[in-house]
Amino acid sequence: MYKIFYDLKRNPFEITPDPSFLFPTRRHNEALAALYYGVRRHKGFVVMTGEVGTGKTLLVRCLLELLNRRNVAYAYVFNSLLSPLEFLHYVAGDFGLAASGKTKSELLLELSSYLIGRHQKKLTTVLVVDEAHHLPVEVLEEIRLLTNLETSQEKLLQILLVGQPELDEKLDSFELRQLKQRIALRSQLEPLNLEETKGYIQRRLQLAGATNNAATLFPPETIAKVYRHSRGIPRLINTVCENALITAFARQSQTVTPDVIDEVAADFRLGIVRPTLAAVLAAKRAGAERRPGEPGDAVEGGGPEGANGAESNEEVWQAVKTLLQLHDYLQGTRSGGEQSPAASGPEGQGT
Ligand SMILES: Nc1ncnc2c1ncn2[C@@H]1O[C@H](COP(=O)(O)OP(=O)(O)O)[C@@H](O)[C@H]1O
Ligand SMILES: [Mg+2]
Repeated sequence: MYKIFYDLKRNPFEITPDPSFLFPTRRHNEALAALYYGVRRHKGFVVMTGEVGTGKTLLVRCLLELLNRRNVAYAYVFNSLLSPLEFLHYVAGDFGLAASGKTKSELLLELSSYLIGRHQKKLTTVLVVDEAHHLPVEVLEEIRLLTNLETSQEKLLQILLVGQPELDEKLDSFELRQLKQRIALRSQLEPLNLEETKGYIQRRLQLAGATNNAATLFPPETIAKVYRHSRGIPRLINTVCENALITAFARQSQTVTPDVIDEVAADFRLGIVRPTLAAVLAAKRAGAERRPGEPGDAVEGGGPEGANGAESNEEVWQAVKTLLQLHDYLQGTRSGGEQSPAASGPEGQGT
């Protein structure tokens, strides 16, 4: 409703994860590069974690756009309330296999012959599990067993587990130690810092069509408030900015002032976060048991763990380049009409 008043073509702060809005911070770039590299190099298991609203699903969507162009087949699971059998049904169905009414062993047979067929054609197949922190241990164990589908050289199925930091804790558990050992790459998303928050807001405004009013609309002192209330979490930045625009519009103001941000933050009770009893107990336990530097701690710098050495860095930068191309491409398709990238012929190996 405020679009005409602020001379915008679309809403800048939608909360749906739209790849064309990607603001590539260093962390987001590195995480996307790690996911892409892990899949393209058939690393098997890749894990990405990050707090609620930091951009995990957005990166998954960016990755799937990239993979679409490489003729990579994927199953995307985002419902974590499935039993092990339902999970297999869902995965097989998402790969387009006839799954209904099949037993577990029939499903596994079906899946393995599908994976072997794709492998023979030198095609990559990926399973992406979003919200994986909710998965019960039995389903995670089922996922591990899927990585047993392999040739003597490599895994037939690439698996990406994406979830909140609780996923890291889950993977630290004794029952899942086998799965943890198979993780080839891990990356973590973090909230944005003040500078990034500034860039993020300006970028979204520009992508929404703001021309020279982006800086007047959100002056630096307003952005500082947004940062303080949102703690740099992109989803909260969007919520605050969207509602601030509505309020400023209601007041017919061409500038979002810092006090508007305070009001919106108060309405959304942003300063108030009461940890659940379970979270308090878990934090106490972690404090007592974990020392810095032990496995399961955050990867310093957020880079892929396994990607050290010059050759791996080269790979990562290649992937970052591809990411930037994707970004330009998406901008191009936006301005030239809403078409999704068509799957190009069989993927070239070794990009
Ligand atoms: N780097 C980024 N660039 C642009 N938008 C982002 C970025 N990171 C997060 N967002 C936006 O923040 C919101 C929350 O992101 P989402 O991927 O749903 O978070 P998560 O899955 O981690 O909870 C979405 O609107 C998404 O588009
Ligand atoms: Mg998500």
